[in-house]
Amino acid sequence: MIVLGIETSCDETAAAVVDDQRRVLANVVLSQLDDHRPYGGVVPEIAARAHLVHLDGIVSEALRQADLSLDGVDAVAATAGPGLIGGVMIGATMGKAMALGAGLPFVAVNHLEGHALTARLTDDVAFPYLLLLVSGGHCQLLSVRSVGHYERLGGTVDDAVGEAFDKTAKLLGLGYPGGPAVEAAARMAVDPGRFSLPRPMAGREGCDFSFAGLKTAVRQAADKLPAGPDGALDPADRDDLAAAFQQAVADVIVDRTRNAIRLFHAQNGAGGTLVVAGGVAANATLRGALQSLSADEAIAFAAPPIGLCTDNAAMIAWAGLERLRLGLTDGLDFKPRPRWPLSELSTATLSAAVSDRGAE
Ligand code: KG4
Ligand code: ZN
Repeated sequence: MIVLGIETSCDETAAAVVDDQRRVLANVVLSQLDDHRPYGGVVPEIAARAHLVHLDGIVSEALRQADLSLDGVDAVAATAGPGLIGGVMIGATMGKAMALGAGLPFVAVNHLEGHALTARLTDDVAFPYLLLLVSGGHCQLLSVRSVGHYERLGGTVDDAVGEAFDKTAKLLGLGYPGGPAVEAAARMAVDPGRFSLPRPMAGREGCDFSFAGLKTAVRQAADKLPAGPDGALDPADRDDLAAAFQQAVADVIVDRTRNAIRLFHAQNGAGGTLVVAGGVAANATLRGALQSLSADEAIAFAAPPIGLCTDNAAMIAWAGLERLRLGLTDGLDFKPRPRWPLSELSTATLSAAVSDRGAE
């Protein structure tokens, strides 16, 4: 079974081909970073236009790398939400058109489900597992029971963690995108323990997050520091503050995830796997902290390779393949959705989905 996947929900134009032996036959990602950098964030209209210009070529390139024509593909899967609606419409329409033209089934994939199921492609993780999804737009802890069946254990009450990294980077005068820039600055810190920042929500019951207060605390700390004539912080101060922010984020995530692991174990018994996904999962400090948390709490730990943590189409092709295997395909009238929480995946999915453990 071979599936072509298309991803256009944010600022990556991507196409990939995967098979049911968990092989990634092609994975092409065109980042639009340079188009958006002057604006310090993703501009939806620019993103949509760039998808329109490049998607054709990216899909052809993926098929070329996989050494396949559409005849050799069993289904076309495309992200149908959530995301910037202009881009989502372009990718979903392309997917539908290709499916119609080639007489193939179409699978409308939820972008978050793509992130959620990646660990099954990369690490063959069995259901159920605990998922920490941390990206620019999302920050949540989910119990993944089977394809289409996700229980939200907690999430952010304000900013997503990637958003907090991006805003903090802007505040510190670091580049865009913020996450990698903050991580690089933190690595240069001479005195990472110099600033004490709050750990919002830490120690509280439940699995919710909050990052708005942390961002404000960084601003207050930065305001007290001497700045150059252009308003720029001294690089040594900036790097120490970046390290303090990153450590506070890691501590909060560890605290919240510990509660989620205990809840997951109470529901499912000992063992299982903690999977981390989304762009922020590229952060080495966070990965390290989650790895030692997992060892302490006796749960296996899986983190997809960084290229499959950030937005890509291999995860969309894989989620499409998982759905196709269960007979879960979609009509060409499927409407792209700007908002599409995982908890709203169709009830048809829930009744058809079969857990690895058999009928539960
Ligand atoms: O999953 P993703 O590629 O796109 C979304 O669906 O949001 O995640 C992008 C987010 C951005 O906020 C970016 O700053 C953050 O992931 N990010 C990082 C790192 N690399 C990317 N955050 C912290 N450390 C990193 N190394
Ligand atoms: Zn994403």
